[in-house]
Amino acid sequence: MDSKLVIQPPQAGQVFDESQVPLYYSRKTADILHKYGPGPRVHFHMGLFAPGATPNTTVSQRVLKRRIVESQEAIVEHAARSWGAYATPPGSVLDIGCGVGGGSLYWAQEHGAEVTGLTVAAEHIPVVHEFARQAGVADRVTAHLADVHTFTTEAKFDAAYANESSGYMDRERLFRVVAAALKPGGWFGIQEHFICRPEWTSFIDGYYKTRLGTFTEYLRAAEAAGFELEQDEDVTDRVAEFWVQSMAWNTAELDRMDPAGPRPAWSRERLQESTITHGKLFRIWRDHALETRLLLFRLSGGR
Ligand SMILES: C[S@@+](CC[C@H](N)C(=O)[O-])C[C@H]1O[C@@H](n2cnc3c(N)ncnc32)[C@H](O)[C@@H]1O
Repeated sequence: MDSKLVIQPPQAGQVFDESQVPLYYSRKTADILHKYGPGPRVHFHMGLFAPGATPNTTVSQRVLKRRIVESQEAIVEHAARSWGAYATPPGSVLDIGCGVGGGSLYWAQEHGAEVTGLTVAAEHIPVVHEFARQAGVADRVTAHLADVHTFTTEAKFDAAYANESSGYMDRERLFRVVAAALKPGGWFGIQEHFICRPEWTSFIDGYYKTRLGTFTEYLRAAEAAGFELEQDEDVTDRVAEFWVQSMAWNTAELDRMDPAGPRPAWSRERLQESTITHGKLFRIWRDHALETRLLLFRLSGGR
């Protein structure tokens, strides 16, 4: 077996602290809306650029934001198309880790799906509902404050979707919960980052409060829950540019922040730290120390 794919058991002192995730998002939600908003479709995940594209960053902050948001929309659309959602739209979608609802609104608006979103951040709930109202899909989008690990439902969904949220979760439990929530033959689409060079794991997990895993770990958990892998697309090279554009947006934001202005000093410090971190993140993605993949799993039966 390739040594970089060996699954490491958690080391002493590396136990995942689930309580950190809602705290992280309660501090972050306003920043997410500021950087990726105004909505109603606001995403908090990486975006897709054309192969080899390196758009010039010496442009206005408004242009940078437009590019970032368009790249986020592009990856959601690209995944949905590759997964067959345009040919056979899912009637119902469970959006696991829905954030402020960009993906949930996408499935409701573009595919007419009834969407149930789950998030552990209480702040997200009213935001998702307000955005759904603005987008005219309030009757099709419902967000719940719920931890997926203990989520149970009578309803059976056509599809489940986890965009950059499965990295916060215990994969064995996640796949078991999703298997119980899907109709036979239903699909589970995942956009996620996977560890290739474990020496970077603690840096990334420490920064994002995640517990990222390897691709083989996902495969084993999926198989044990009755899923088959149908599609695996490595988009690492096409998303790496996201860090460059995002770093340029941060720099523009720092440039226009008045040190004596109304925003608190910690806000500036956090943005400075984020901007420095972006340089590392870009190198991690460029070197494939982590890989971003779009995975489609199908639950056995029905098809
Ligand atoms: C990086 S955000 C992604 C948000 C959204 N999928 C998007 O693409 O814009 C991760 C989301 O996962 C959610 N999350 C993390 N752990 C979770 C859990 N155990 N159960 C449900 N949601 C969880 C967080 O609340 C947050 O909304």
